[in-house]
Amino acid sequence: MPVPVVDNAYLKAIESARRDLRAFIAEKNCAPLMLRLAWHDAGTYDAVSKTGGPNGSIRSEREYTHAANNGLKIAIDFCEPIKEKHPTITYADLYQLAGVVAVEVTGGPTIDFVPGRKDSVATTPEGRLPDAHLGAKHIRDVFFRMGLSDKDIVALSGGHTIGRGHKERSGFEGPWTPQPLKFDNSYFKELLRGESEGLLQLPTDKCLLEDPSFRPYVDLYAKDEDAFFKDYAESHKKLSELGCKHT
Ligand code: HEM
Repeated sequence: MPVPVVDNAYLKAIESARRDLRAFIAEKNCAPLMLRLAWHDAGTYDAVSKTGGPNGSIRSEREYTHAANNGLKIAIDFCEPIKEKHPTITYADLYQLAGVVAVEVTGGPTIDFVPGRKDSVATTPEGRLPDAHLGAKHIRDVFFRMGLSDKDIVALSGGHTIGRGHKERSGFEGPWTPQPLKFDNSYFKELLRGESEGLLQLPTDKCLLEDPSFRPYVDLYAKDEDAFFKDYAESHKKLSELGCKHT
C-alpha cells in the first residue's frame, strides 16, 4: 500500500481526527484500551527483518485474534467511524494518533506525532508481543528485537499507570493504580510499595524492581514525575515510529 501524501489536506484531516478522538475517548472513558491498541499494533516490529510495526495490520482478523490482542477488536471498531469520516488517514496513523490522544486526555505528556505511516495487511506470526507471565530476559528479548532499550522498557511499562487487566481477556484482573484513568507516575510508586489488595502487578511489572539495570529508572520515575513524562514521551514516540521511513 502506498505511503500517504502528507500535504496540507492530510494535516488538516489529522487535526480534525485528533479532535474527534479526544471527544470520543473522553466520552467512552476508553483511553487505556486505545493506548493498548496503539502499542500492540507497533509492538510486533522486528528491526532485523523490518516486519511488523505500526502499520495498521492489527485490524486484520488474522492478527487481532492473536491471544495477546484479546479485547482489542473493540478498540478497532471504535476507530472505524473516525476512519470513515477521514478516509485519507491511514489506519496506521489513526491507531497511533489514538494512542497519543489517550495519553494526553488522561493527563499525561504531550507526545510529538509525525503522520505518514503506511498501511499493511501483512500480519506477523503470533508471539511477538510480550508474555506477562515471564521476566526480565523475555521482555528484553522482545523490546531489543524492536530496537528499543532498557530505559524505553521501564518508561513504556509506565503505560500501565492507566487501565486494568480483564480476567476474560488476559486472565489478569484489576488496575495497577487506584486511579486508572489518570496518567501519572503512580504505577512506579505502587510498584515500590509492593503488592496491595485489589491492585495488579504482572510478573513483567515486578521484574523491573529486581533487575539492576531497570531498577534505577523505577526509583527515578517514582520520585520525579517530570523525568518520567519526559522519558515516556520520547519512548512512546520511538515506539509509534518503529520502521517508519519518514522519521
Ligand atoms: C493491559 C501485558 C507493556 C499499555 C495489559 C494487560 C496485560 C499486559 C496482560 C491486561 C489486558 C487485559 O486483560 O485487558 C503487558 C506486558 C508488557 C506490556 C507483558 C511488557 C512490558 C505495555 C506497554 C504499554 C501498555 C509498553 C503502553 C505504552 C497497556 C494498557 C493496558 C494494558 C494501557 C490497559 C488496557 C485496558 O485497560 O483495557 N498489558 N503490557 N502495556 N497495557 Fe500492557
